[in-house]
Amino acid sequence: MLHRRQFLQSAAASISAAGLVGCDPLELITPQANNLDIQRAQFNVMPDLITTDMVSLSPDAAPPILRAKQGVPFTATVTNRLPDYTTMHWHGIRLPNEMDGVPYLTQFPLGKDETFTYTFTPPDAGTYWYHPHCMTMEQMALGLTGALIVEEAADPGFHNDIVLNLRDFRLGKDGQFKELFTPRGAARGGTLGNVLTTNWQQNPVYDVQTGGVARIRILATDITRIYKLFLPNARGRIIALDGHPLLTPLPWPTEQEPLILSPGQRVDIAVEMPEREGEELSLMGQIGGRPKSLARLRAVGKPERRRLGELKPLVPNKISEPILKDAETHEFVFGWSPSGDLPNNGFCGTLGYTFWSINRAPWPGDASGTGPLATLKMGGSYILRLRNESPNIHPIHLHGLTFKPIRSNKRTVLPNWTDTALLLKEETLDVALVADNPGDWAFHCHVIEHQKTGLAGYIRVA
Ligand code: C2O
Ligand code: CU
Ligand code: CU
Repeated sequence: MLHRRQFLQSAAASISAAGLVGCDPLELITPQANNLDIQRAQFNVMPDLITTDMVSLSPDAAPPILRAKQGVPFTATVTNRLPDYTTMHWHGIRLPNEMDGVPYLTQFPLGKDETFTYTFTPPDAGTYWYHPHCMTMEQMALGLTGALIVEEAADPGFHNDIVLNLRDFRLGKDGQFKELFTPRGAARGGTLGNVLTTNWQQNPVYDVQTGGVARIRILATDITRIYKLFLPNARGRIIALDGHPLLTPLPWPTEQEPLILSPGQRVDIAVEMPEREGEELSLMGQIGGRPKSLARLRAVGKPERRRLGELKPLVPNKISEPILKDAETHEFVFGWSPSGDLPNNGFCGTLGYTFWSINRAPWPGDASGTGPLATLKMGGSYILRLRNESPNIHPIHLHGLTFKPIRSNKRTVLPNWTDTALLLKEETLDVALVADNPGDWAFHCHVIEHQKTGLAGYIRVA
């Protein structure tokens, strides 16, 4: 028995030694050294082809994982090395309004070689992300979307913490970018990419402790794609959604009932790794109706025998609970643009057409002054009624505040805290929040072509 086991172990070890080398995790940047230069980059997205004209924070790598700590000040000094204007936004973080990175609403766009120092103390632990909010379409489509991890004050005790940043690129056979957006796409579900990547690589493999319990953070930072995800043959549990530990459990996704993760959303899962070294788990996506592996986790190292059941639950973030009986309701109607008015260009880019609107008014362009869609009283409880008049689905995102879905005319909703809620066709979804962070908070669809062709606005908390 013993011999057989030893043999199997050493056989597995030599298989893994001879096999693929796991991908390097993305470079980690410590909170002291966040000097972020937005710049052109090139990268091997497709095998043997270098994609030029990408945008990142270094010349030859994907945007790094930034790490902050809950309750500890975080600083990032962002310098624009591109000829176009830009800003940086910290998606999902409840931060002071002037650090939110929204052009004209919270700061002026950064011209070439200009710098802005963003500093805030993240109140909530969890999985968040960063992306530009000026020239958003171009700079995100060309690659600039990265993870911002806010670590819990106390170590939650996983063997590994793996970040999988999902996004697509629209590349030709030569590995170079094709048109980033199309009028046809913008007027419908958005223009999909054709090369699916995880951390800018196709189906990469990461080394994870054999028999350990790993935390996998999955981010949908694509500008268009709504992912349908599952992990076959894995024992796991969803532990957080959009940064926040679950209040109501979500079922473990399967091929038949995958987890829907729309642009802007994140999910944290805990998985038991296989107990035999060399074995792999795959994160699968339902792509065009067919399952496709997006990333793999390979068991490496002497087996441990950890079980999900040993995990302590994550500590919930402190979010104020809305008092529903006192809550005023504000309705927002998402639909077509009634006018053919073209958006204003400003310095932050336009796609050149208008298709969408909120409350029948299309966003006129970033530089144009316009009033808030609603003004909420500081400290008040509110229900935002999100009403979709269109036959398309929209991941609706609100900056600076955290809300929870409470009811829908189409389905049973689970009341978990979020910053991005997927609104189904013709759905009316009520979400509730406490307006406890003052400022002008951008409110838009996270399909960037929708955002940039009218489906945007802001909510004022005063
Ligand atoms: Cu993730 Cu207004 O954005
Ligand atoms: Cu945001
Ligand atoms: Cu949309």
